[in-house]
Amino acid sequence: MKQRLLFLGPPGAGKGTQAQRLAESQGLLHLSTGDLLRAEVAAGSELGQEAEAVMARGELVSDALVLAIVRSRLQSHAGGWLLDGFPRNVAQADALAQLLEELGQQIELVVLMELDDAVLVQRLLSRGRADDNEAVIRHRLEVYRQQTEPLIAYYRERGLIAPVEAAGTVQEIEARIASVLG
Ligand code: AP5
Repeated sequence: MKQRLLFLGPPGAGKGTQAQRLAESQGLLHLSTGDLLRAEVAAGSELGQEAEAVMARGELVSDALVLAIVRSRLQSHAGGWLLDGFPRNVAQADALAQLLEELGQQIELVVLMELDDAVLVQRLLSRGRADDNEAVIRHRLEVYRQQTEPLIAYYRERGLIAPVEAAGTVQEIEARIASVLG
């Protein structure tokens, strides 16, 4: 099975839910930049203080800050990994490509989770995280369309995109993902 993966998709598509399950079952490193940033915020670190207001608005934290987090984690890990919520724009994707070249590694597949906006918004409103109120969710979706969606073409050109329908139960989606991973 493929061992070096990206999970791409809009907020609420279920990237974190599915990434965590797959990482546990396959022994992969689950690297969620959102979770790592929230941990920094909770710890009150300098990095967390810098990120907190940006996250509350539903905007993207600076590339340099996120890249530093990813670089340190990937450099110290030899096995397979699953990146969730990173990269988020073309600059981050280019920086990841450069980092992986340095490490002599390659992305094996980009799992693209696709879901209607109405379902996304409903899922996030039911969760109620600090950035899950309706206005911020709409803004996160806009940021996704403008900055992250271009990565679909970016990775399609590289022959890496595997679309997965993200509606249905967690188990149904898990089975669809397993089937694209081979
Ligand atoms: P991040 O934490 O990455 O949030 P997101 O992309 O907005 O994604 P979500 O966690 O909201 O959704 P998800 O697709 O992971 O779905 P989940 O499984 O949680 O980023 C947050 C912020 O951090 C960003 O706005 C930005 O500020 C900053 N940030 C992070 N990465 C960055 C980067 N690389 N660069 C710059 N800034 C960055 O599921 C959602 C809900 O639905 C849950 O309640 C779940 O239980 C439920 N659910 C899941 N699957 C199902 C299902 N099949 N049926 C019903 N409910 C389901």
